[in-house]
Amino acid sequence: MTRVFSGVKPTGHLTLGNYLGAMRRWAAVDQHRSDALFCVVDLHALTVDHDPARVRRLSRQAASLLLAAGLDPELCTVFVQSHVDEHARLSYVLECVATDGEMRRMIQYKEKAARERGGSVRLSLLTYPVLMAADILAYGTDEVPVGDDQTQHVELARDLAVRFNQRYGHTFVVPRATGPAVAARVMNLQDPTSKMGKSEDTGPGIVYLLDEPDVVRKKVMRAVTDSGRDVVYDREERAGLANLLEILAACTGGDPAELAGGYDSYGALKKDTAEAVVETLRPVRERHKELCADPGYVEGVLEDGAGKARAMARPTVDAAYRGIGLLPPAGASR
Ligand code: AMP
Ligand code: TRP
Repeated sequence: MTRVFSGVKPTGHLTLGNYLGAMRRWAAVDQHRSDALFCVVDLHALTVDHDPARVRRLSRQAASLLLAAGLDPELCTVFVQSHVDEHARLSYVLECVATDGEMRRMIQYKEKAARERGGSVRLSLLTYPVLMAADILAYGTDEVPVGDDQTQHVELARDLAVRFNQRYGHTFVVPRATGPAVAARVMNLQDPTSKMGKSEDTGPGIVYLLDEPDVVRKKVMRAVTDSGRDVVYDREERAGLANLLEILAACTGGDPAELAGGYDSYGALKKDTAEAVVETLRPVRERHKELCADPGYVEGVLEDGAGKARAMARPTVDAAYRGIGLLPPAGASR
């Protein structure tokens, strides 16, 4: 059976971008047709300035939202990265296969490091893609369902798998990224040239999964468009409009270009998009509220998930340790 792995960072409240670009598909498709693991990748949240209490809170919330979005622990494995040592264990070995030049070429690193403007950047921000490769490779993952922004990182995981296998013998499955048909990159409603990212400042351009319906409506109605009057789907020239059409298409199952033909005003399009988003998020919010009333349930899911994940990762990580030349501890089975 195909092995699927994906993750979400607890660096901020989860957004409509996370949902349409990744989580919704994990719940609707991936968990049903594959042997899938979904992870709250908390170690990754430590690569930028962080507040420990907030990371803990957001990790719990992200886990509840994964379940609220429809991940079913009977069908897939949901867990927290730091509960399974194999990720960090494998990451070090992969650092011995990756090069610093490769790390410095990562777009996300360049962007985030540039934002620091001369301030210091954590070393873990540079090595982050190696940890991500470890997340993926430890489980013999075939497919990594992610939004557009992660494809370069998955490519790196592929490169490291191939290189390791060539040098030290076949150990890793070579994974590939899979993306959604629409909404692979949901853009910020106030700045349609940049991604709707949860780690950015809270702003009117970001729809959070737990926003109240009226807040969602307000954010969508105030989305930046452009001065044109006709409704056409053109990602290059009419980015704000294209973003709304893609969001509407993703929520209603339509095609952005076809949907454009049905509107002759921005106002009507925004109104329908706002309602479509509210309806799409409604069941997630409701289920999240139920789960918050039962924190023991979520904790139990995470504990079982970590146990299952550990058992799955261990043999592959052990094989990598042996392959690269580390002496097995006395008494370890060969
Ligand atoms: P992150 O929030 O960076 O941990 O991302 C978790 C998942 O959501 C990854 O698969 C991302 O590619 C996806 N994702 C995050 N933001 C967006 C966005 N604005 N549009 C589409 N996918 C996104
Ligand atoms: N880097 C991913 C992001 O920012 C999160 C992530 C970490 C991930 N490890 C992963 C995604 C492994 C897929 C597979 O979105």
